[in-house]
Parts: sequence; C-alpha cells; structure tokens
Amino acid sequence: MEIYDPNNKRFEVPLNIESSSNVSFEPNYDVEFINDTALQFRVIRKKTRTVLWETTLGGLIFSNQYIQLMTSVPSTSIYGFGEHEHPSFKHDMNYVRYGMFSRDQSPVALSNLYGVHPFYMCIEKDFNAHGVLLLNSNAQDVTLSPSPSLTFRTIGGILDFYMFLGPTPENVIQQYTEAIGRPFMPPYWSLGFQLSRWGYNSIDVLEKTVERLRQYDIPHDVQYGDIDYMERQLDFTYDKANFAGLPEYIKKLKNDGMHYVIILDPFLTKDEPQGTYRPYELGQELGIWVNNSDGITPAVGKAWPPGDSVYPDYTNPKTAEWWIQMCMEFKNILDYDGIWIDMNEPSNFQNGQQPGCEENHLNYPPYVPDITGGLLAEKTLCPNSKTYLGYHYDTHSLFGWSQAIPTFYASQNATGKRAFVLSRSTFVGSGKYTGHWLGDNFSRWRDMHMSIIGMLEFNLFGIPYIGADICGFNEETTYELCLRWMQLGAFYPFSRNHNAIGMKEQDPGVFGEEFAAISRSALRIRYLLLPYLYTLFYHSHVSGNTVVRGLMHEFTSDPQTHGIDRAFLWGPALMITPVLEEGARSVYVYFPEASWFDFYTGEQVSPSWLKKSVEVPAPLDVIPLFIRGGYILPTQLPARTTVLSRLNPFSLIIALDEHGEASGSLFWDDGDSIDSVERGEYFYVEYKFSNRSLKATVIKNGYNGITSLAYNTIQILGFTSKPNVIFMNGKTIPSNRMQYNSNGKITLWISAPLSQELTISFEY
Ligand code: GLC
Repeated sequence: MEIYDPNNKRFEVPLNIESSSNVSFEPNYDVEFINDTALQFRVIRKKTRTVLWETTLGGLIFSNQYIQLMTSVPSTSIYGFGEHEHPSFKHDMNYVRYGMFSRDQSPVALSNLYGVHPFYMCIEKDFNAHGVLLLNSNAQDVTLSPSPSLTFRTIGGILDFYMFLGPTPENVIQQYTEAIGRPFMPPYWSLGFQLSRWGYNSIDVLEKTVERLRQYDIPHDVQYGDIDYMERQLDFTYDKANFAGLPEYIKKLKNDGMHYVIILDPFLTKDEPQGTYRPYELGQELGIWVNNSDGITPAVGKAWPPGDSVYPDYTNPKTAEWWIQMCMEFKNILDYDGIWIDMNEPSNFQNGQQPGCEENHLNYPPYVPDITGGLLAEKTLCPNSKTYLGYHYDTHSLFGWSQAIPTFYASQNATGKRAFVLSRSTFVGSGKYTGHWLGDNFSRWRDMHMSIIGMLEFNLFGIPYIGADICGFNEETTYELCLRWMQLGAFYPFSRNHNAIGMKEQDPGVFGEEFAAISRSALRIRYLLLPYLYTLFYHSHVSGNTVVRGLMHEFTSDPQTHGIDRAFLWGPALMITPVLEEGARSVYVYFPEASWFDFYTGEQVSPSWLKKSVEVPAPLDVIPLFIRGGYILPTQLPARTTVLSRLNPFSLIIALDEHGEASGSLFWDDGDSIDSVERGEYFYVEYKFSNRSLKATVIKNGYNGITSLAYNTIQILGFTSKPNVIFMNGKTIPSNRMQYNSNGKITLWISAPLSQELTISFEY
C-alpha cells in the first residue's frame, strides 16, 4: 500500500521488493474505505474478520517534511521495530516512542541505534500473526499507545506499507524475507566460536591469547583483527611494527584450520602525504565520496584515522567497484576470510562535516523525530550532503546497507569462497548480505538479558546471523558475568567474545582452569549441535525461517509465552534457559505444553511442570537446555575447530512426542563454496520416526564429500519400555550395541554411512 504525491516525485527506498510467489487471486484480506475517503481505511483478515489496521483515529497528514499515519492494531502483542535496546521483547504500549535513524550509539534504553527496521509483528487475539513493514529510510519515529494503536511519523519519502498475513509467526517472517531478500547462507566455519578484542596492540599478545585457548582445548574457529592491526587506523594497511609478521601468523592460523576476519571502516584520511595512500588517492581520482551540498566537493569529517576523513558513497556503482578492488588487493597482503564493516551509520566524531551544517530546511527540519540528541547531523554528516542516490537526508540510514552489498562481493571475489560480512549498521534487506552484532554493549548482567531480546528481534528482521559481544564490550567484566555470558553466547547464532580497548582481557582462556573448562563444555555442546544449527540456516536461506525464536513464536496460542524473553529456542526444538543473574544457581523455566527432555540426562520433564514456571537447578558449570519432543536433531562430535569437527561421526537425538513420533532434517555441503544451495551441490536427508521405526530418506545427494561420513550413535528419548529386538536395515543390532535407561533413553552404537537410506525398527 503506497501513499505518495502523484504530482511530485519523492525519494523512494531503492530496494527491490519481490512479490509473492504465491500469487492468489483470492486475497486473504479486505480493504474497506471509510466515509468514502481514501484517507480512512481498514484492513481486515477475511477469515476471522479481525481488523488489522484502522486509520480512523488520527487521519493522515502528508506534507513535505512531515508525514503521519495513525492506526489502531488488534492487540498489544507487538514485537519488532529497530534498532533499539528494548526493555522487553513484547512491547510496552504505554505511550512509548522509538526513533529510527542510524546512529553510532551504544545500546541504551530508548536511543535509536545502528540500524533501521520499521517492521513489526502482531499476534492477534485469536493467535493469528501478521507483520507490517514501512519501507521508508527517512528519520522517523513510531509511538505505541495502549488503545492499542501505532503512530508512524517520518520526515520524508513516501508511505510504503507492506502487510504479511502469516497466519503463523514463522509464516510472517517467511513472507517478509521473501519480499526483502532471504538471509545469506553463512560459511560453516562462521558458526564456530570467534574471538576478538580492540587493543591486542601487538602480535605477541594476540599469539599468547590464541595459544592459551589452544592449551585449554577451547573450540576456536575465528580470530579477528580490530582497528589496532592497522597502521594508524588506516584501512588497507597493517601495523608492520606492532604486528610484524601478521601475514605469516594468519597463514599459520589458517593452516591450523582457523579463519581470520578483518575490520574495515568507511572513512579514509585525506591527509596522508601525497603518493603514499593509494586507497584515498584512487577514490579521489574516481570522485566517489559523499559530497557536500554542491555535489562536487567531498564532505570532510573526523574519525579514527589521523587527519580528516572522507566517506565512500556506496550508493554509487563506481564506489562499489573501487571498494571491491581495494579489498581484493589487500587480500594479497593479509589473507583474510571475511570482512567486518563497522562505523557505517556513518559515524563522524563531529556533528556534521566541516565547517558545520548550514541553516536550511534539510539540516534543521521543522519536525525532528524522537532521535537521540535531537539533531540529524549529530555524530554523522549534514543531511544536505549529496550521495549518488540523493540527499543524505533521505539516504543516511541506507549507508550500512549500501556498503554491505559490495562488501559481500568483495569477500566472495577476494577469497573465492562463500562471503562472510558482519555489519554494524543494517537496514531492511541487509540480511541477504550480512550478519550483525548488537554493538558496543556493556559488561553488565542486564545487557545479557537485552541481548536475547535483540537477537530475537533481528530474527524477525531477516538477519538471523546475530549475536552480542560476549562478556560485554564497554566496562570491565567479572569472572561470573563472563562465565555465564560464555554459556549464553555459546547459543548466539554469531558467537563472538569481543572487548573494548583498555579493558582487562576477557577471553575464555584468561580466567584459569575452572573457567576454561566450563567455557569449553558450553562450546562443545554448541559444536555438537552445529549440524542442527547449520540446517536451520539452510532453511532460513531457502525458506526464510527464523533460526532463533521466542517461545511465543512456537507456542503462539499460549498467551503465557507472549512475554517470555529470558529463554529462547533454536529452531522449533531446543530451548535455552540461561542464568542472567549474579549469584543465581537456578533459573525459572516456563514449559509450554509439549514433551520436554533434559538435554543432559535425557530425562523427560514431569507433566506436572507443563504450563508452569519451574525452578530448575543451574550450578555455575551448567546452562539448562531442553529438547522438545517431536524433533530429531542431527549432531556431530565436537573438536577444536569446525574443520576438524566436520570429519567426525554424526549422531541423531530423537526426542519423541506424546504419539511416539518425531521428525527432522540435515543439510550438509562443503561448508564454504559459493552458492552451493543454488548450484545443487549439497546433501539433504529427512528423518522421520513413527510406528517405532526411524527412516532416513535422502532427498538430495549432490555433495560428494558425504561418502566419508557416518553415523555412530542414535539416541532416542521418551521410549516407554525396553524393546526386544532392534533391526537396522533389516539386520539385528546386537544387544551389546544398545543401552536402555530407565528414564526412557535408548542409545544405539551403530556404523552406517550418512549417504545411504537408513531404517531402524524396534520390536517388542
Ligand atoms: C566500534 C565498534 C567496536 C570496535 C571499535 C574499534 O566501537 O563497535 O566493536 O571494537 O569500534 O574498531
């Protein structure tokens, strides 16, 4: 639904919205105009007659720099809008207003943060779900009021709304990502544990840090270089004094099965001596910077590098070419595997470029949405700066999105492998090219809780590759906080410990034996479950499924789940209930109606616990985890890196539901080829357990490497009695290859190739 000015062309977000493949001639909604005016209308879900939108409350205002639309919504179960630190996943609707305008801003309550996602999901009273996107990139805010209603206000562009009618939350996100672009398929190694810090300051410290993780045998797949690897924070250089030998060291890490990710910032100093800094000089020659309002002279701001800096205008195709070329050339110097793009709100350490923003209607609009600082140019460039696509006023919040696209191709072209991009600023559609971390959080217990909310929200935004800086970025962490955060972070889709300069070291090897052992065991559970996680990412890439979801997402018709944001699920099947409080040695866990099994013991949760919040023990070395009956999870023995773990035997955990049934799937490929899904170079098997029999059906056999892999154990949870005989592909499994536990868990030790169909039946 577009509301625009037919007589005046206004800015429109250049995102190509795909229309649904499911074109139905019978829409599942009605639009009714009220009092015969186009200004007042209702959108109704046909099947239930639920009014999803009704705009009679405040009418519509459409002026040049102030556009407002108010609508009532069918319930207060509203989720989404970003990027902010929201105090709860389910929104407080008591006249809360959130600004959206990308900003270099540590996550604090009510501030507009790094990215912009004007998208929400609503659970209706009868538990159908729908989602709404306002595709608009101008500074804007939304007010949530208790009636319940929403007021959208933006200061430019047009009103371009899209509705996604679900009816389940998962359907909503599938439809949303079909429209804006499905999430990228992450390389397998990027699901491993990652370590970073700003301020290793020397290669010695870096090497010692990596070494102590290895000594403790803590899984460690990816190492980062933050801006201190650079010479004086200049993109495309490295510090040959403090990081002498870095290229060789990276090679060594890679020989050892690890991967290396470099940071790049979107500003280049213009003040290096002539003839010494090619990335700037070439860019200058090509004329690819964000310009002042004259459209000719580059906007000059101040950021990390010495002197003053200019900003590449990534909305210009010439800039994209230059960037890709620079990244490719740099690959010959540092053999990186992925690119971390930071500060791309874009961040400037001054308000507006030099010499400040002139007084005019763009720089000082009559209405400034509810954004931190109340000034559009704060910590960024002046709104009347010119980009290829138009005024910064319109394109500001698209900066990170426009940078992620060429960075994706730069990563792909430079490495010849699947792209890995991690971006701080994101916009609608960014998930097709990049993952995200939740920015410069604080080493505080509450930030752990907030990270779960952020992670759930980014799954709604189509960016499931998401995590927060484990142990906290700003401020000093503590032993217990960091340990609990390592446990929680082992279940972030993007699992990285990262720290700010000047803070004490906080890698999992620095706190001694006990800490290392507990971190190792949490990460080994992650690695064990990586085949399941990777399969979730496959479903996300292909069908737009969420990877991490709230309990509300799966148990929508149980209103008690709607407000839960201290626990979360991996896909439909694994519930993670971390400790989020200092000193706590137990957690309260709400068990929705289902069969649940303790991950550690395989024991079924007592039916008397269902639909209740139950106190569950969580000693310091344990993060409570529960598997949901009805699902089959593929697993693989862990190792120190995914390069090694990918060679290990597979297992299945089969958790039965109340009918004795379960199902699941496994996606597998070489883990880092470009477009292996699109090229059909993968293996996909579906598992089904019913009538006391497991069947693995190979659906796609397009990956040769599968032939060297085998299952070695099968675990079944929820068996009520011990079977007499077990057959595998028609042959009896010897009784010494089977163990039955009185709590209903059966373990079978088998040897069966992954590539072939498998049938296991249990007879009494
Ligand atoms: C920004 C990033 C942070 C990084 C730092 C130095 O604050 O958000 O992750 O460590 O810059 O590059």
